[in-house]
Amino acid sequence: MVLLEVKNLSTHFFLKESRVRAVDDVCFTVEKGKILGVAGESGCGKTTTALSIMRMLPPAGKIVKGEIYLEGIDLLKKNKEEMRQTKWKELSYIFQYAMNAFNPVMTVGEQIAEVIIEKQDTNSKSGKKEAWKKVKESFEIVGLDPDRSKNYPHEFSGGMRQRAIIAMAMACDPKLLIADEPVTALDVIVEKKILKLLREIQTKYDLGIMFITHDLSVIAESCDEVAIMYAGKLVEVGDASTIFHKGAHPYTRMLIRSFPSILGECKRIEPISGIPPDLANPPLGCRFHPRCPIATKECKEEIPPFEQFSTSRHQVACFHAGESIA
Ligand SMILES: Nc1ncnc2c1ncn2[C@@H]1O[C@H](COP(=O)(O)OP(=O)(O)OP(=O)(O)O)[C@@H](O)[C@H]1O
Ligand SMILES: [Mg+2]
Repeated sequence: MVLLEVKNLSTHFFLKESRVRAVDDVCFTVEKGKILGVAGESGCGKTTTALSIMRMLPPAGKIVKGEIYLEGIDLLKKNKEEMRQTKWKELSYIFQYAMNAFNPVMTVGEQIAEVIIEKQDTNSKSGKKEAWKKVKESFEIVGLDPDRSKNYPHEFSGGMRQRAIIAMAMACDPKLLIADEPVTALDVIVEKKILKLLREIQTKYDLGIMFITHDLSVIAESCDEVAIMYAGKLVEVGDASTIFHKGAHPYTRMLIRSFPSILGECKRIEPISGIPPDLANPPLGCRFHPRCPIATKECKEEIPPFEQFSTSRHQVACFHAGESIA
């Protein structure tokens, strides 16, 4: 069942001298009870996509086109108050760099309780008691001792802080969780534990998760579906095994080759030469064509449509999808 549907989303940043086309005509869905991994190089528009869904863009950022449906309701048609009600209750977000987001002078539990109380729209004694009950429950969900909710952020290790961030995101029982690079600041062992935890939570609560990372090896282990972004565009979407074994876009294939041991094989790492384009002045045609080994005249002149490829859930935007890149 489709939980989130993003249709033809374009978000641009309007700067003094230029317009940065950070997200351009992006379409994807997140299914209930599934994890969608979103990957791509730094600056390709992952965070901007997430912030557009949350309606939390910085002032220069504007959604110039598109629709975003959560369980069939267009989030872009909601007014501020309606969106405030939706946020955290139905739609929850773990910010990139969220590990440092806790206020150092309040206990972790107080900060989570504050979010819950705001959503309850009551500051009564029973409301507070109810909120603290939820804080303790959410600590249990993420495998933290509920008594630790009385501790300050500096009394938590990095992994514990990450769990507490997830507890905060889960505190209002959301339907969809967007996690923006939640594990990049952690060492590999903690990272794996956190991912395992997200998977457990997702299974238990039938949650939809949009999991953003630039690390493909993380996605290979933890996601059901994968979306690959390049320079503000979605270039390929499919189930994880299709993407990793039968990825059809040259960028997807090159990205996979540029990471070590995703499939457990001993292979040479091949970095992608060149750099992503300036999104204030993106190349005409396919945005990947200047770095693509099989680009032709057509790729330089026309934007490839995002079309169904091998299966109904596999879509690719490439005139040469599936062709060998040698
Ligand atoms: N506040 C802003 N003002 C102007 N441009 C911005 C702003 N935020 C992001 N951008 C630009 O939008 C584009 C997409 O950025 P975004 O942060 O969404 O990328 P990302 O894929 O999340 O990157 P990373 O992996 O580094 O987090 C980049 O070109 C970036 O420079
Ligand atoms: Mg980002």
